[in-house]
Amino acid sequence: MATIPKPTEPTTQQNTATGGVASGSQSFHKAPKVIAPNDSNKPTIAVLGSGWGAISFLKHIDSTKYNVVMISPRSYFLFTPLLPSCPVGTVDEKSIMEPVVSFANKKKGDVTYYEAEATSINPDKNTVTIKSVSNISTTNGLGINVGLDPNELAEIKYDYLVSAVGAEPNTFGIPGVEENGCFLKEIPDSKKIRHKFIDSVERANLLPKGDPERKRLLTVVVVGGGPTGVETAGELQDYIDHDLKTFMPNLVEEVQIVLIEALPVVLSMFEKKLTTFAENVLRETTIELKTRTAVAKVEPEYLIAKTKAEDGTVEETKIPYGVLVWATGNKPRKVVTDVFKKIPEQNQANRGLIVDEYMRVKGTNNMFAIGDNAFAKLPPTAQVAHQEAEYLTKTLNKMARIPNFHQELQSRTEKVDLLFQDHGFKPFKYVHLGALAYLGAEKAIANITYGAKSFYSGGGVITFYIWRALYLGMILSWRSRFKVVADWGKIALFGRDAFKEL
Ligand SMILES: Cc1cc2nc3c(=O)[nH]c(=O)nc-3n(C[C@H](O)[C@H](O)[C@H](O)COP(=O)(O)OP(=O)(O)OC[C@H]3O[C@@H](n4cnc5c(N)ncnc54)[C@H](O)[C@@H]3O)c2cc1C
Ligand SMILES: NC(=O)c1ccc[n+]([C@@H]2O[C@H](COP(=O)([O-])OP(=O)(O)OC[C@H]3O[C@@H](n4cnc5c(N)ncnc54)[C@H](O)[C@@H]3O)[C@@H](O)[C@H]2O)c1
Repeated sequence: MATIPKPTEPTTQQNTATGGVASGSQSFHKAPKVIAPNDSNKPTIAVLGSGWGAISFLKHIDSTKYNVVMISPRSYFLFTPLLPSCPVGTVDEKSIMEPVVSFANKKKGDVTYYEAEATSINPDKNTVTIKSVSNISTTNGLGINVGLDPNELAEIKYDYLVSAVGAEPNTFGIPGVEENGCFLKEIPDSKKIRHKFIDSVERANLLPKGDPERKRLLTVVVVGGGPTGVETAGELQDYIDHDLKTFMPNLVEEVQIVLIEALPVVLSMFEKKLTTFAENVLRETTIELKTRTAVAKVEPEYLIAKTKAEDGTVEETKIPYGVLVWATGNKPRKVVTDVFKKIPEQNQANRGLIVDEYMRVKGTNNMFAIGDNAFAKLPPTAQVAHQEAEYLTKTLNKMARIPNFHQELQSRTEKVDLLFQDHGFKPFKYVHLGALAYLGAEKAIANITYGAKSFYSGGGVITFYIWRALYLGMILSWRSRFKVVADWGKIALFGRDAFKEL
């Protein structure tokens, strides 16, 4: 059963042994309240995030053995594999969102959810500082505070912390990207791309043919030839070929997508045969592909790209654009990079929290990291986050069954991994199930594996249906699955919409 924050009732009732309320009387700032566990007989696990790692963890953790406290500024799980389908409306954004409470309500024990951002992890105090992002004041008319006020800070005490805050888009410090580019990581990003794209097309429609401004507005540049960039370019091209054709037949031939990739090939995680197939499909659908080309600077209406020829010579090009989609990968979030400085064993970390084979953050005995914010020498994918989360719940569920294990672990200051070994915990073993990518024109590529064994490797229309079937299987709820199928059915019958405000 889920509870929307209940621990902060009259703050004077807080147990001072678990922190109580810091009065802050010595300072001009009100110190954040410290929130003690709901049930002090059970250890508290604070879980940061509501993405692949955190929600897969929530689904499998035995919440009768732990107080589970979920903290995330995003109140829903997002099925990211279908996010590239959203800007053009192949799939509706709401179809791939599932509220955290739908998962929490299915749990037997108590689960508390804070719509809040973790601003600081404090391993020395076993607390996490959170800032409420809810814009609903939780103080009712009687003055009883049942949660956090908007923007209020609080400190949550934990016995175990599971960090699954993911990562954020990387701009590599390239000037102008933040201000002018659209990322594709979250729902608002999808809406922003749609708005900009339709807005550009409508503006271009007011200009005469041959006007360079019309050409600029009708150029969509996608930077990054990884799966996010390729799938987004493919979906945009589908929209142009099938739907924009009906709405704006007079300009559809002039819309040009340019896909820019710094490496010699796109989708470099696939084998050569599949990347060649992908490049051919992209070119056939008239996407202009610029490989060996790195974007170096972005201005509001154009960008500067540098193409390195095989002989090493570099040519600089100015590319005007109407819409810029930026998909060049991830970097760690600040709340995570701050931890790098706080724990000596993490001082050398740069891509994520360094974890051992039990997903334990090295240098701690009660912090775990899963998904994109963990550095386990694995790619930052949903399947990795999901498997790590399932593994970690097995570990924590087993820990709860071993008498005195929590106390033993708490008192352990070094060689923590030996304790896990002694109790027969198995290290995490990732099983790679393959990779899939949609290319547009109802064609996809796929490499389906089980670990080192490959079962299928191919590309085309059949692979597109395999891609759809497997992605449906990956969706975490039946409600979402049904809505996605309904969206596919709707576009097959009536095509996509083009409302920039929706
Ligand atoms: C467009 C796109 C398509 C993708 N397609 C695929 C695919 O087809 N297959 C695949 O395997 N992988 C895919 N991925 C990668 C996959 O989405 C990630 O690897 C996966 O989401 C990582 O899971 P995570 O839990 O680590 O992070 P996320 O799923 O990103 O979740 C992070 C969570 O942390 C929350 N959060 C952020 N900051 C804080 C904070 N300070 N405090 C508390 N919570 C915070 C966020 O709101 C979010 O809920 C795709 C990614 C993108 C962007
Ligand atoms: N279908 C799928 O399985 C799928 C879909 C989307 C994302 N993902 C996963 O999510 C993660 C992130 O994917 P992604 O596609 O966002 O990023 P990515 O890191 O996979 O690809 C980014 C690409 O951008 C290129 N790049 C970087 N800087 C550049 C520049 N200045 N100019 C031009 N190109 C530049 C890089 O060479 C790289 O190929 C990956 O692990 C990926 O596997 C998987």
